[in-house]
Amino acid sequence: MKRVMLVTVLALVGCQASTNLDDVSADATVGGGLPKGFLWGGATAGMTIEGGLTDTFTEWEKGTYPDGRPHIRDDQRSTVATDSWNRFDDDLAVIEALGSNVYRFSLEWSRLEPRQGEWNAPAMARYREWCARLRAKGIRPLVTIQHFTLPVWVAEQGGFENEATIPLIEAFTRRAVAELAGEVDWYVTVNEPNVLAVQGYLDGVFPPGKVGDTVTQTRVIATMLKAHAKMAAAIREVDTIDADGDGFATRVSLAHHVRYFQPASHDVLDTAIAGLTDDYANEAIPRALKTGRIFMDVPGAITLDEQVPGLAGSVDYLGLNYYTRDMVRADLGSASLSQLTYRPNRQLNDLGWDLYPDGLYSFLVRFSAYGWPIVITENGIPDTAGTQRSKYLVQHVAAIERAVRDGATVAGYVHWALIDNFEPIEGFHARFGLFSVDTTGSLKRTPTESAAVFKAIGDRVPR
Ligand code: BGC
Repeated sequence: MKRVMLVTVLALVGCQASTNLDDVSADATVGGGLPKGFLWGGATAGMTIEGGLTDTFTEWEKGTYPDGRPHIRDDQRSTVATDSWNRFDDDLAVIEALGSNVYRFSLEWSRLEPRQGEWNAPAMARYREWCARLRAKGIRPLVTIQHFTLPVWVAEQGGFENEATIPLIEAFTRRAVAELAGEVDWYVTVNEPNVLAVQGYLDGVFPPGKVGDTVTQTRVIATMLKAHAKMAAAIREVDTIDADGDGFATRVSLAHHVRYFQPASHDVLDTAIAGLTDDYANEAIPRALKTGRIFMDVPGAITLDEQVPGLAGSVDYLGLNYYTRDMVRADLGSASLSQLTYRPNRQLNDLGWDLYPDGLYSFLVRFSAYGWPIVITENGIPDTAGTQRSKYLVQHVAAIERAVRDGATVAGYVHWALIDNFEPIEGFHARFGLFSVDTTGSLKRTPTESAAVFKAIGDRVPR
């Protein structure tokens, strides 16, 4: 734990060696320094690619904010998305072209159980077939059970605001995983509890669209962690088949979103709030997974301190989603006690996020102290012009290699996203794909320049 604290302090004051953003000389060798057996591939989630869904997010899409703005930029809809529900052939061709040995995608609970107790067997069979087809090509399926969406009937009962959702998602997990046993070893239970809670209860940009409610936000995260513990136990119970022959029938984690927080100034209050924010958003979840104790503190609003049976030991690896860095300015009048900004004079991406590979390095070293291997389950960049992703990729893989040299245990890298996808909030305005998708008509998948870079790095990754 001492090491964790030291790295945290170093991270907060920004003291570690840094990656030169203009140095892409590593280009020709990067990837070769990753460990043997490394997982390498792309990611999607059902809500962003499948089309034809009815869930909490498709309902949210139809709505507007009090000032009349549509919830999704330009009032776009995910009705068709990239039509991946019907175009697995196309997606598989992309996965293969990229030289992947893993593909992360999600199940859609709303599709599999559209009404309580009603099971869509043909849809389940299709997901299973996807897994079998991936495996036949030597590609491991990494299956996310819940990625942001809930069936409307679950939300009507309170969603993750209500602990009664825990047995529902546990039962869903048990049933779906039983069907996938023998095809899948790698699982993510829930995607980004902190993002779902912050966007849904603090910023009001995800359903249910509540604003400034850090109390419910914190309880939702805790409920999702409890759900994760039950889901993990269910997965291990029903899937006892080692599909890929590596000696493990299941590898379970959740996908934890981290952001690299630095104080916006040397002001003591900015430093203190940056530390609190880091603990709440970044540290609390892995700490809870290790110790079984959820401790989350928003001073003046809520201090949640709870020991959860089954949470300690519930992950076999840590799934880490990393994109960017934020500068933290104390704002004691706001619900989160802070304002997040970006550092001036930095190269930013299409959504104005700072490009900061050293943040990834720092989290890999820091969280390796917990003892699990880490799989980067998301890392990527919205880049419509296609001018930044190649460099972003090279620099982030170089950061991973540097972390590995410094003792981090990293078992895989999964890029967000495999193809352009329908983003929550931004719709098709934010283009994350290694392959672009013609969303104006043909839905054809076309490699971006970064696809060749991804493939070239992958070819050097020791398999
Ligand atoms: C989410 C993805 C999302 C991505 C880019 C992540 O936090 O897991 O669903 O598309 O960020 O915005």
